[in-house]
Amino acid sequence: MTRAVLSARELTFRYGDVAGIAGLSLEISEGRRLAIVGANGAGKTTLLLHLNGTNRPASGTVLLRDEPVTYDRAGLTALRTAVGLVFQNPDDQLFAGTVYQDVSFGPLNIGLAEGVVRERVEEALEALEISHLRDRPTHMLSYGQKKRAAIAGAVAMGPDVLILDEPMAGLDPSGFWHLMGLLTRLHEAGATLVVATHDMSLAYEWADEVAVLRDGAIVAHGDPQDVMHDPAELAHSGLRVPWVADVAQTLRDCGVLPPDVPSPRTRDELKELIAARCRVGEDARPDQRSRATGLSELG
Ligand SMILES: Nc1ncnc2c1ncn2[C@@H]1O[C@H](COP(=O)(O)OP(=O)(O)OP(=O)(O)O)[C@@H](O)[C@H]1O
Ligand SMILES: [Mg+2]
Repeated sequence: MTRAVLSARELTFRYGDVAGIAGLSLEISEGRRLAIVGANGAGKTTLLLHLNGTNRPASGTVLLRDEPVTYDRAGLTALRTAVGLVFQNPDDQLFAGTVYQDVSFGPLNIGLAEGVVRERVEEALEALEISHLRDRPTHMLSYGQKKRAAIAGAVAMGPDVLILDEPMAGLDPSGFWHLMGLLTRLHEAGATLVVATHDMSLAYEWADEVAVLRDGAIVAHGDPQDVMHDPAELAHSGLRVPWVADVAQTLRDCGVLPPDVPSPRTRDELKELIAARCRVGEDARPDQRSRATGLSELG
């Protein structure tokens, strides 16, 4: 069992009369990729804002490596150095004049040497493919470019835990794949990653663990294949079974895939399973294959 790097215990937070989260507990294990899924309004953003100390719970405790977070200057600096948060809306995050200034602000603020800051910022800009935008004022960026700049700012801090709120929303396919690649590299380098999303396919494909958030509380947490297979239970949380799992189940039900075949997690894994079945079918019916290809078995 890996150690919890960050924990939430019985957190409660209200926005006036509206419950944001209500008695929420969650353990985030070191070095894991956790997806937090939930419908609009479930409380994902409210929870994440607690995990880096932006919000202070009305009751309950946030713990960093088993130590309760303190909300004084030193406590918040320690928390935010260890835990980076990329906001859902990049306009809530970006504030400095240019992209370069914005991405370098955090590392400078925690007192890193200028050379180290320069190196980290260059790496982050390159990783998010926005080096060419370095001198652009942040208010003169497209939404997806702002999103990339906000992610670069968090990455440049080199946090132990990187938390991203709907990171893929607004990214084009190239941005999506680059971010997936970057998250893989950060994970391989030992970072703990947390992504909040209602993109069930992303969570199913990417995460080691999935936590389902409903009405401000975690209602399920575990292996993606255990947590994300029950259509009725997910519908209760305003969510759907990921399409890959759904199609694989239909193919099993109608006998195209064997009942014991391991569940595919990605589009490519599903395609490979179907292609393998097609090959089995071809081997079993050489006469049909030769008709289909127009080739005789002899010639
Ligand atoms: N600034 C606010 N003022 C009042 N209520 C708020 C505010 N922000 C969120 N809420 C309420 O708190 C609850 C949780 O909202 P939250 O933004 O955490 O949900 P979410 O899961 O992040 O949703 P989404 O998928 O839309 O981003 C909702 O009922 C929401 O209406
Ligand atoms: Mg949100």
